[in-house]
Amino acid sequence: MLVSHTLHWWQKEIIYQVYPRSFKDTSGNGIGDLRGITQKAVYFQWLGVKAVWLSPVYPSPMKDFGYDISDYCNIHPTLGTMEDFDNLLHELHERGIKLIMDLVPNHTSDVHEWFMESRKSKDNPKRDWYIWADPADSGGPPNNWRSEFGGSAWELDSQTGQYYCHSFLKEQPDLNWFNPEVREAMWEVMRFWLNKGVDGFRVDVLWYLIKDRLLRNNPPNPDWEEGMPDHDKLITAFSNDQPEVHDVVEEMRRVVDEYPNRLIIGEIYLPVDKLVMYYGKEPDTGVHLPFNFHLVSTEWDAQQINKLISEYEGALPAGGWPNWVLGNHDKSRIKARVGEDQLFNAALLLLTLRGTPTMYYGDELGMNDVEIPPEKIQDPREFREPGIGVGRDPQRTPMQWNNSKNAGFTNHDPWLPVGADYQTNNVDSLMENQHGLLQFYHDLIALRQKEPALHGGSFHPVGVQNQLLCYRRQHEQSAFFIALNLGKEETSFTPSFKWRGVVEIASNPKRKGKKIENTIHVNGNDGLLIRITGNSEAG
Ligand code: NOJ
Repeated sequence: MLVSHTLHWWQKEIIYQVYPRSFKDTSGNGIGDLRGITQKAVYFQWLGVKAVWLSPVYPSPMKDFGYDISDYCNIHPTLGTMEDFDNLLHELHERGIKLIMDLVPNHTSDVHEWFMESRKSKDNPKRDWYIWADPADSGGPPNNWRSEFGGSAWELDSQTGQYYCHSFLKEQPDLNWFNPEVREAMWEVMRFWLNKGVDGFRVDVLWYLIKDRLLRNNPPNPDWEEGMPDHDKLITAFSNDQPEVHDVVEEMRRVVDEYPNRLIIGEIYLPVDKLVMYYGKEPDTGVHLPFNFHLVSTEWDAQQINKLISEYEGALPAGGWPNWVLGNHDKSRIKARVGEDQLFNAALLLLTLRGTPTMYYGDELGMNDVEIPPEKIQDPREFREPGIGVGRDPQRTPMQWNNSKNAGFTNHDPWLPVGADYQTNNVDSLMENQHGLLQFYHDLIALRQKEPALHGGSFHPVGVQNQLLCYRRQHEQSAFFIALNLGKEETSFTPSFKWRGVVEIASNPKRKGKKIENTIHVNGNDGLLIRITGNSEAG
C-alpha cells in the first residue's frame, strides 16, 4: 500500500488548468496575461492548488489561440515578456506551486521558421521536417484524411506542387516525427523550459505524432450522420495512434527524466484499452499521466460511471497512476453538461476518485458555457463548421473574479464576453458563502490533501442503487465512504457489510456531522463523503 510520503507531487496534488487569455488582464487590452496569473497566485494558494498548467503562452499568430506556435522558446508579447514568465515561475514556486507548460509538438505555425524553410523547395534541408506528399495519381490530395477542424488534412503548396499534411488548420502544418532531427529539436525545446525550472509538460495531441508511413486511406465511419463534424466521417485508423508513436513517447520520457521530479501528461482521446498503452510497455517508459477524458464523454448516469471506473481501474498497467478530468478549454463546461444541481457531486467525484484530478479554471465557481453573439465569435472551429456545437468560445470566457464591471477580469472590452451570471457567480462573492460551490471545493481539496485515504488510498466499488453511486477509499485504518446521488429521486442503499460513519462533507450542509449506520439515505442530487468509524469488512 502506498503511503503519502512515497507519492510524487503529481500523484498527491490536483492540477488546475489556466487558459491565460481568460484568467486576468493587467495590461488593459481585454486579454489575460502572465502578470495577471502571478497576481492571482494567492488565489491558487487559498484554493489549495499545488500545480498549475498553462495553455500555450508562446509567440503565435493566434489562428488557433496559441496552439499554432511560431517560436517555442519565447513568450507572446500580448501575454507578457520572458521576465514576466520568470516572475510567475518564481512566485508560484515560492508558494510551493508547480508550473506545467503546454508543449505542442505535433505541428508548428505556418510562419515558424522551420516551416518557412521547409516550403522553400523540395531539396531544402528542412523539407523532411514536415509531411510532404505528391498529389494522388488522379490529382487532388494524397489521401482521404480529414482535418480535425473539417475539410481535407492536406494543403497544396503551389510553389513546389506538393501537399503538406495538417491535422488541424492549414496554418498548423504537422511535423514529421519519423525525422530524428525533428525529435532532437523538440527535445531541445523541452530542455530550454526544464532548465528554467518548469515542472513538466502537458503534451498536445500526443497520439497524433506518428501517422501511417504509407499514408493509407482511412476507412469510412458507418455511424457518421449529417450534422456531425466533418472529421468524424472517417475512422482515424491510419492518421493517428500508430505503433511507432510509443518509441517517440519513450524518447520524450527520457528527456524529462534527465531532470528530477518532472512530469509529462499526454493529451490523448482514445478508448481506455488504447489510452493505457501510453503509460509505456515497461514502467517509466511512457507518460506519467495519459489524460483520462472519459468522465467528459460518459453519460452522467451512476451505472455508466461505475462501469467506466472499473474498466479504467482494471486496465491500468502495474505502476500506472490513474487520473481524471472533468473539463478543459475544448469541451463544454461541466455545468452545461450535468446541470447546476449536480455540480457538488461532480466536485466530489473528481476529487475522491483514485488518481490525480485536473480542474478547469472557473469550474469551481460553477461557470457556465456562455452564449457568444455572432459578432464576438473567435474560435476557428466555429467559423469552419458553424452551428453544430463544435465552437469552443463558450467555455473559454473570462474568469469571474468579482461583481464589478467585466467581473474584475479587465478594465477594457474583454476578448470574449463575460458570463451573465458574474454578479453572483464570482470568486469574491462565493468566498463569502460558506455553503457555496467554491467553499465546497476549498474544503474538499483541504481534506483530500490531509487524508492519505483520499489522495493515495485504495479504491473499492461498493455498489449502485438507482442513481446512487457508492465507493470506498481506504488507507490502513482510515477509510471514507462516498455516496453520490446522480439522479433526482431519494435513494437508500445498504451495503453487504456492516459499517458506521460520520458525514464529513456534504452537498447539503445540514447533513454534516450526522452519524450513519449500515443504511444510507441520500436525497436527489445530494452527495456525501463519510468518514468510516467502524466496518466489519475492512476493520
Ligand atoms: C488540442 C488542444 O487542446 C486544442 O485546443 C487545439 O486546437 C488542438 N489540440 C490543436 O493544437
